[in-house]
Amino acid sequence: MATSYQHDVLVIGSGAAGLSLSLRLPGDCRVALLSKADLNQGSTFWAQGGMAAVLHNRDTVDSHVTDTLAAGAGLCHRDAVEFTVSNSRRCVEWLVEQGVDFDLREEHGDEQNREFHLTMEGGHSHRRIIHAADRTGRAISEVLTERAIAADNIEIFAHRVAVDLVINNGRCEGAYILDQRTGHVDLFQASAVILATGGASKAYLYTSNPDGASGDGVAMAWRAGCRVANLEFNQFHPTCLYHPKAKSFLVTEAIRGEGGKLLLPDGTRFMHRFDERGELAPRDVVARAIDHEMKRLGADCVYLDISHKSGEFLQSHFPTVMAQCMEFGIDISAEPIPVVPAAHYTCGGILVDQHSLTDVAGLYAVGEASCTGLHGANRMASNSLLECIVYAESAANHIADNLGQTPVPGPAAPWDESQVTDSDEDVVISHNWDELRRFMWDYVGIVRTNKRLQRALHRVQLLQTEIAEYYGNYKVSNDLLELRNLAMVAELMIRSAISRKESRGLHYTLDYPDLLPEAHDTILQPDNSPL
Ligand code: FAD
Ligand code: SIN
Repeated sequence: MATSYQHDVLVIGSGAAGLSLSLRLPGDCRVALLSKADLNQGSTFWAQGGMAAVLHNRDTVDSHVTDTLAAGAGLCHRDAVEFTVSNSRRCVEWLVEQGVDFDLREEHGDEQNREFHLTMEGGHSHRRIIHAADRTGRAISEVLTERAIAADNIEIFAHRVAVDLVINNGRCEGAYILDQRTGHVDLFQASAVILATGGASKAYLYTSNPDGASGDGVAMAWRAGCRVANLEFNQFHPTCLYHPKAKSFLVTEAIRGEGGKLLLPDGTRFMHRFDERGELAPRDVVARAIDHEMKRLGADCVYLDISHKSGEFLQSHFPTVMAQCMEFGIDISAEPIPVVPAAHYTCGGILVDQHSLTDVAGLYAVGEASCTGLHGANRMASNSLLECIVYAESAANHIADNLGQTPVPGPAAPWDESQVTDSDEDVVISHNWDELRRFMWDYVGIVRTNKRLQRALHRVQLLQTEIAEYYGNYKVSNDLLELRNLAMVAELMIRSAISRKESRGLHYTLDYPDLLPEAHDTILQPDNSPL
């Protein structure tokens, strides 16, 4: 039997965005916090390098703002960048209060004289990445999860997949949620609903992201009438481990921050031929350079060499990378690491304002699912965890300020599955899933052309027709929902890419290799938009 739930606030997603938003809400606010797998299976848990923040006494907000604007290739919104960066120190302090144990500088490692170890990543002109070795996301995720479990006002629902939002008289009043254990679709009602569902990099065949990064929030918001922005800017991380058995393992950019060099198969360096900042150029530049060299040489991968550092240094700064590489027989203190680029981060998303409010009343989007204007055409490394924490606080304050005046949700229809049966052809899902991710990789990857994009659009529209038919006839499952959402978001990515007639940041096309004089966002508006 399907069940109905009532809360004040429904938070869909338990990464850095969803967890911190839930914890920032007042203690008398009844919160439902959902994740579609275990609580810590989003991207947050896997974040390695750290979180950018202005902490060093020689660093400044202006400098962090300037670097972010430069990495974003003219498309960042200055107000969003200033808002995020000027809140960075406070957000670090909040995380520390919650119990996150960031690494301290060795010479200042006592509690009284706390000075954090700050590392370096591409695009940053200062050491400003606070971290917990190379498992920063895990440290944040575990502490915030513990806090959420302990909070009396937060009720946690794991293995629940949001299917679609409930919209009543133009307001979002809840969502239909598949309970993966019972197979029933329950109704969750709330006065405010938050999409904190992460990114969509699973649209690509090769990705650093965990399973589940299927753009569910973006697709649900689009279907509910929200505008989306800048979805052509999918970031490819330059260095994922290249090994037949290493599924989506990232080799953190902090390794380049600590002096790691990129090498061709013959052992020569090449990054200085592409950018004077060498290995620490912004990610779009590095990923494109690697892609170019691999195609030029017909090479399967390039190499990242940090073997000039001692085993002891590497063990204390990069224990995760070291252990994972060792599992595949690669000793990073003695030999270079084979690496390739892979889809990593969705810079665009659901268009939101500074309170994380979308176009639909009562609906917020926070974290990688959203587009705040911070990242522009290319996210600077380690700015995304920061964005999650800053905008979660802003959304929580806005919700708390408005909850008293918000109407209580009215009656809503339960999920209707009277017309559908159990699927007897799951192969359709796995086939379409593979096809989608492969043509996205081949046609909508690091280097694009008009022809490839048109081809991709044609394919994705065919897939969507098939998926719609399947969705209309069979009971929903997590795989079917993810495929439906990925195909929808892939279409939005392709349409966004087709509409940009220039090369900017992460969007590089051979047909328009130059930058247009004026930067503009790509904003797509659905037919049912309330605007
Ligand atoms: P996520 O952490 O991805 O969480 C999404 C949540 O939504 C999950 O709980 C998921 O179960 C839930 N969800 C999704 N769809 C549904 C649905 N339909 N129903 C119910 N629940 C749903 N950024 C940095 O700033 N610094 C780094 O060092 C860094 N390193 C990274 C390393 C890796 C390997 C990866 C993959 C990313 C890294 N990033 C880093 C990016 C950063 O981790 C993410 O952008 C950020 O964690 C996203 O947080 P989030 O809360 O928005 O989403
Ligand atoms: C990394 O550690 O290289 C990832 C950092 C990021 O994506 O911000």
